[in-house]
Parts: sequence; C-alpha cells; structure tokens
Amino acid sequence: MYKFIFLVFLFSITSCNNVKKLADQKSIINEPHRPQIHFTPKEKWMNDPNGMVYYNGTYHLFYQYYPHSTVWGPMHWGHATSKDMIHWKHQPIALYPDSLGYIFSGSAVVDVDNTSGFGKDGKVPLVAIFTHHDPKGEKAGRSDFQNQSLAYSLDDGQTWSKYAANPVLKNPGIKDFRDPKVTWYEEGKKWIMTLATLDRITFYSSKDLKRWTKESEFGKEAGAHGGVWECPDLFSLDYEGKKIWVLIVNLNPGGPNGGSGTQYFVGNFSGKEFQPFTTDTKWLDYGPDEYAGVTWSNTGNRKIFLGWMSNWQYATLVPTIKWRSAMTVPRDLSIEKLGDQYFVTSKPIPELTNLAEQPIVIGNLAIGNFDLSAKAGKLAGPAMLKITSDKIADFSISFSNGAQKILIGYEKGTNSYFIDRTSSGQVNFEKGFAAKHTAPRLTNKENVDITLIIDNSSVELFADNGLTAMTEIFFPDSLFSRITMQSPGNFTIKSLQYSSLKSILK
Ligand code: FRU
Repeated sequence: MYKFIFLVFLFSITSCNNVKKLADQKSIINEPHRPQIHFTPKEKWMNDPNGMVYYNGTYHLFYQYYPHSTVWGPMHWGHATSKDMIHWKHQPIALYPDSLGYIFSGSAVVDVDNTSGFGKDGKVPLVAIFTHHDPKGEKAGRSDFQNQSLAYSLDDGQTWSKYAANPVLKNPGIKDFRDPKVTWYEEGKKWIMTLATLDRITFYSSKDLKRWTKESEFGKEAGAHGGVWECPDLFSLDYEGKKIWVLIVNLNPGGPNGGSGTQYFVGNFSGKEFQPFTTDTKWLDYGPDEYAGVTWSNTGNRKIFLGWMSNWQYATLVPTIKWRSAMTVPRDLSIEKLGDQYFVTSKPIPELTNLAEQPIVIGNLAIGNFDLSAKAGKLAGPAMLKITSDKIADFSISFSNGAQKILIGYEKGTNSYFIDRTSSGQVNFEKGFAAKHTAPRLTNKENVDITLIIDNSSVELFADNGLTAMTEIFFPDSLFSRITMQSPGNFTIKSLQYSSLKSILK
C-alpha cells in the first residue's frame, strides 16, 4: 500500500515537472527575438563557445556563461550536449570560478592514451584546458593575472574536477595571455597549445598536458591588428591530398565591419612553427556578428566551426530580456584554391537540413520585382533559402514585417555582398548598430550560389560555395513574414528553394 502511494506520489511529481517543463519551453519559444534554430542559453549571459569536443557519439558545447545576470560577469563554463549539433540538451554548469579566478575561454581534448594520467580504471579522460582569470590580480594592476589550467572528466564530460596543481602554464608577464586551444600533433606525438598572447600567437608543446614548453611565436607582423588577439585555433584540412594548416585568430576590435571579427591564416605547421603562405588578412566571416569562433576537437577529417553570434561593440546592450546571445549555426570548413591562394570556405552543416519542411521550389525566374510571399503566403519563422544563377548581377532580397526590414544582396559596382539592417527594428541601443555591411565577392566565376539561414533575429549568408560568409543579427518588433526580391537589371534565378525550418525548441 505504502509502495503504491509512494508510486502515485512519484508519478504526480514527475508529471508536474513535465507540465512545468512544457510550459517553460512554450514560453521560451514565444519570447520576442528568441532564436528557434540556434543554440541559446535558457536565460542569462553567454559569450564564446568553449571546450567543443566530440566523444562517444555526443557533441559537447561549453560556453562562457554568467548565470546571475544578462551582462558579462564572473565567468563559468555553461554546458550543453547534442547528437547532431542542432538539437541541444542543457546540462548543469561544468566549471565554476574558484580561488584562482574566473573560468575564461579554452578547449577540451579526448586524452585517449591517458598522457595526463587523469584516467582511472580504463576510463578515458576528457581534459579541458582553460584560462584562469584572476580579477584581484587585474585590479591590483598586475600583468600576470591570466594563467592556463586544467580540469578533467571521467564520466564522458558529465562532471568535471579541476587539477589540484593548477595553473599548468604560468603567465610570463603578458596582460592578455589566454584562450588555449589544444590539439594532438600526431607527427610529433605531442600536444600543441595555440595561445593568444596580446598581439601574436604563442605555440607551446607538451607530452602530458601538464608541463608546457614554448615552441615559437607568430603574427606580430601579420594579419589584422586593430585590437587584441583572442580565441585562436590551429588545425589542418585536406586539399587534394595535401595537408593545409589553418590558424584562426579572433580579433577585438578591428573586425571587417567594426568591433570583433574572425581572421585566419593558411600555411604550414612544422610541429614547432607556423609558416603562413601569405601574411594578408583573410576573414572567415565578414558580418559583424560572428565572433570567438573555433572548431570541435576529435571529429576526424571533418572540421566543424561554431561562433558566438554577437559583437563586443554592443553585446551587452542588445534588446533581449531574459538571455543574451546565441551561437551561429555550426559550419563545415574546407579549403578552396583561387589562383595561387588558398581560402577557407564555410557551409552550414548538412544536419541542419533535417529541420527542413517541404520546400517551395521555383525555377528560371527573371526577378525584376518579385513577391515570394504573394506566391507562397506568409513566410515567418526560421528558414533556409537557396538561390542559384548562371550570371551574377545586382539584386536584393528583402525580409520585412511591413514597417521594418533587412536587405540582403549583391552590388556589381563594388563586387560585394551586403546586408543592410538600418531599418530592421530596434537599432538605437548602440550608435553603430544601424548600418549596411559589405563583404567582397572572392571568386570571379559568372555563376553564383547563395544560401541564407534565417532565424527570428539573425541571418547568415553563405555565397559562392561558402567563400564569403556574413552573419548579422537584428531585432524587429514582429517577425519578418514578407519576402520580396528586386533586381534593377536582369538577375535571373536558375533555382530557388525556400524551406521552413522546424524549431529546435519544440
Ligand atoms: C573573447 C573573450 C576571451 C575571454 C573571454 C572572457 O570574447 O574576451 O578572450 O577568454 O571572452 O569571457
């Protein structure tokens, strides 16, 4: 009898919880500006993606998180897991600030050979390498307040213990000394740490993740230096059987359209030094709203990139109430060669198409002045729009709610893509927000392909097989539900495909 009453009690608690969970979900889905297909924290402040690692069929995403406010504060590592990088399950906070400081950005690796010795009873350790940022040292005007530390997990990333002998890499007196990205360098059987050190990258190596030796520096004279170098990444991609190394360096400020941005270099890595093919600046994303982007570790030949979808210029001011910021859609990176130059291309991961509803398909359309909504009805909510044409020409696509809009297009005169959010809704929270941003077209092919990923408060543009990417956020008073296209000349669409995307919050 008692057993039965207990079971009934248990059942009512769980169903109450379920009802509450459903109600929570429902209210989140309906929040103004809440992204429907992008990762967001349920509430409070988020910035950089951290510790992205794939293990045992699960993608882990950690992120800079402040659980007590919607503005930046003492940093924690929030945590979420996914089977497809699209649907996310929120997990308990993984790392809390401690006596050594806040938990700043960093990476995580699968230590298969237990080089760290953290593994026990055959359990493979996941090891997180992050920056401890000591606010007291910073306040006291010291220059050694950022140091690198470790934490490890023996239960597939569920819970984490900090290493008792932290920090493992002490600051030599450089104020900006942070964001370690660690990767296994097979040829040399050692770990390589790529660290942002103010205006350059410093490479360190280690056999056990605990003792680090400086190998070299790169970049003081290369690339863009409009601000501090942060959140780097180093990995190789295969191009026609050749190993091409990519060094990502995030930069704040000094981005291509103001504020923060992600640049990269392409070259060789010897295990000791990075030698770039060229020292010019290349941008992984030209829009204002992709930052601190890095790749997942332990994904084999596939390299998947994820960025924070905001900009330090206004991240703490954007008009969302319960939470601040989303991540971009995950993107597959590859190499493409134009002339004698190598470029990194970005494409939304194919897993995203699993959200796609039956598409609206239109072929051979000289757009002139075309109203897609008149043909297809109201088109609100997240969607993927794909367009191809045999001959690029001036055009623009407008997403609007009647009173407010964003414009996306191409201008032959400057040979550039653009996104114009000047009249996109709430723009006055920061003086630089209302603007038209541009990105160069890099290929000189006649034909063009464009993919747009639209969500309630963002658009991501991928053009020319991902050679040009642009990410942009906006805050209209009501959802954009009308799509029109204009071309002053004769832009002819060969194929158009519009697919609504199912919300991941359902
Ligand atoms: C980049 C960054 C990192 C730092 C973190 C702090 O956005 O400034 O360099 O580790 O954010 O939250």
